[in-house]
Order: sequence, then structure tokens, then C-alpha cells
Amino acid sequence: MSLLDEIKAKAASRKKTIVLCEGEDKRVVEAAAKITKEGIAKIVLIGNKEECNRVAPGVELKGITLVDPLTSDKTAEYANILYEARKAKGMTLEQAMEQAKDRTMFGALMLKAGDVDGYVSGACHSTANTLRPGLQVVKTAPGIQTVSSCFIMIAPKGGNPYNPDGVAVFADCAINIEPTAEQLADIAISSAKTAKSIAGIEPRVAMLSFSTKGSGNDDKFYQTVPKMQNAVSIAKTKAPELALDGEFQFDAAVAPEVGALKAPDSKVAGHANVFVFPNINAGNIGYKIAQRFGGYMAIGPICQGFAKPLNDLSRGCNVEDIVATVAVTALQAD
Ligand SMILES: CC(C)(COP(=O)(O)OP(=O)(O)OC[C@H]1O[C@@H](n2cnc3c(N)ncnc32)[C@H](O)[C@@H]1OP(=O)(O)O)[C@@H](O)C(=O)NCCC(=O)NCCS
Repeated sequence: MSLLDEIKAKAASRKKTIVLCEGEDKRVVEAAAKITKEGIAKIVLIGNKEECNRVAPGVELKGITLVDPLTSDKTAEYANILYEARKAKGMTLEQAMEQAKDRTMFGALMLKAGDVDGYVSGACHSTANTLRPGLQVVKTAPGIQTVSSCFIMIAPKGGNPYNPDGVAVFADCAINIEPTAEQLADIAISSAKTAKSIAGIEPRVAMLSFSTKGSGNDDKFYQTVPKMQNAVSIAKTKAPELALDGEFQFDAAVAPEVGALKAPDSKVAGHANVFVFPNINAGNIGYKIAQRFGGYMAIGPICQGFAKPLNDLSRGCNVEDIVATVAVTALQAD
């Protein structure tokens, strides 16, 4: 069974309720029907019957709960939740009433209220518009200040000698552009959690750099090596039980002979399976190299660090991508 099939099967056994916010999108309506038919999760779809029938004619809506913020009797209650979360930022109750009718905000408020277990959107909204409602009302998990993202990378058939698990986690490739040391520590801790709960591997986290244990002579302006070293020490203090180390070059992180040479005292060097990149440029380029040159399959981006699970689809997604994202979201739910 592939990892993706395992994720779907595990999700099906959990029977979580996930809100899909974009009933105006054909792919989302088709995915809602497929997820319902296959029993992967219970779906609340934000939209109405006429609209779904118009964008996705002939698609079976039986078993899907349709909710329209313009007519729902919950909108006023959700507006109050939004008002409480944002009044310190100057939001009025009238503004909250108006914003609660927005589909992505409505979905995030359903999640905050505990009426669903997870949220998936972004098939026809930008990353910022998809995640902002979550950042504003759902906020971060206890002990975590930074929402981040990762990709689960699955080795091609035949495996890869440097990745005996056949699975790796790369972060952050999609949200935090130039993370601070504190943010990198949060990214590492959240990625380890995702590695365990979704990828099913025991995490060994490498904080990546162009330098291994001080070998790189960082320039005086950018200070990227000290930043990564600082991130290692913050992460070790926040999560002392975690197998985490760095800073490492990628070969020192994955090749046992290089790890033993350059970081002989490290338990992670040479054996890492979770990789934290110094910034979004490195992370995004890195996962695409693994995908295109290495033949790895990428699942994600998976959002992590929220108090409750929210995930962002790519606007180029297909029905299968939406189904997979809903399954991952169901596994992230408590
Ligand atoms: C995550 C992202 C979408 C947030 O965008 P945004 O809505 O413009 O963010 P804002 O700066 O307005 O912040 C909104 C709130 O979220 C908080 N926030 C923003 N990013 C956060 C993060 N990573 N973790 C936790 N909180 C965050 C802010 O502190 C702010 O809180 P407040 O309003 O209560 O003070 C933005 O960082 C982004 O666009 N990242 C790059 C995404 C991208 O282009 N990816 C490419 C895909 S490959």
C-alpha cells in the first residue's frame, strides 16, 4: 500500500468532519463527492445546491452537508467569535458580521467554534487569503508561535540509499520567507510532529546550511550560519526529547560517512529524515530538485503549527490533490 493510500485509510478510520470552503469550484464539488463516497471524511461544503449543480452538473451531493454563510443561522454566532478574536485589532461587530459571510472566514470560524475538525481551501483563493482567516482566528498551537508548512517527500521506486525510510520531510518550502532563529526552531518542532503523525517515521531533524558545525566562514553581513546555530539551540531547549542537530550541509545530514567525518558526535548527522531549510528560497528550490531530478513525489504543502488543522490547496490542484489534502487534514485533527 502506498503512503498516500495508508493516509487515506487512516483518515477513513477517524471519521473526522472537514470543511471545504469553495463550493463555487467544480474540482472541490467533485472531490467532496469522492471523499464522501469513499468514506475518507465527512464533508461540510460551503456553497448551495443550485451553485454546485451549476458548476458540477450530475455530481452526487448526497451525504455532503451544504452550508451557505448568507443564509446560515450560525453566521451571527460566528461573527461574535470573530469580533472577540479581532476587537483588540480595531474590528467592530458590524465589520465582523460582514466578514463572517466570507466563505474562507466562515470556514475558519466553523473550525474555531468546534463545528468541524479541519479546514481545506485555496483551490480558487491565494495562499494569503486562504491562511489569513486561520492566522487571525484559529491561531497557533500551544508552545508554537509560527505557522509553517512542509512537504512529505516519497522516494521513487527502487528507493534511495541516503533515505532508508523511503520518506522525508522538507520545511519550510511555502510560507515563511526569511524565518528568524525562533521561527526556524518552531518549524523544526512542527515538522517533527508532521513526520511522526502523517509520514509515519521517527523524526531525526537536520537544520540545514552551507556549513557543518561551524565549518563555513559566514560573512559579516548575512550571519546565516549563526542564525541556524541559534535555531538549533532554541529547538533543543524547547524540545529536548527530539533527535535534532545542526547546522549541517545536506551531505553531512544524509551520508553516514560524511556525517561521521564532519560531525562525529552527532546522532542525527548522516541519518536525518526531516530537513529544515534556512529560508523559503532554499526550501522551495530544494524540494523541486528532489522532485524533478530525484524522482521524489511531493505531498503538500502541509500546514503545521495551527491550533487546529487548516490546509491550503494549490490553485492548480486536481480532484485527487484535494482528496489527499482532506485525508492529511483529518490525520492532523485531534
Ligand atoms: C503566511 C502569509 C500568507 C500571511 O500573509 P498575510 O495575511 O499578509 O499576513 P499578515 O502579515 O497580514 O498577518 C496576519 C496575521 O497573521 C500573523 N501571522 C502572519 N504570518 C504568520 C505565521 N507564519 N505564523 C503565525 N502567525 C502569522 C500576523 O502576526 C498577523 O497577526 P495579527 O493580525 O493578529 O497581528 C504570508 O507570510 C505569505 O504570503 N507567505 C508566502 C506565501 C507564498 O507566497 N507562498 C508561495 C507558495 S509556494
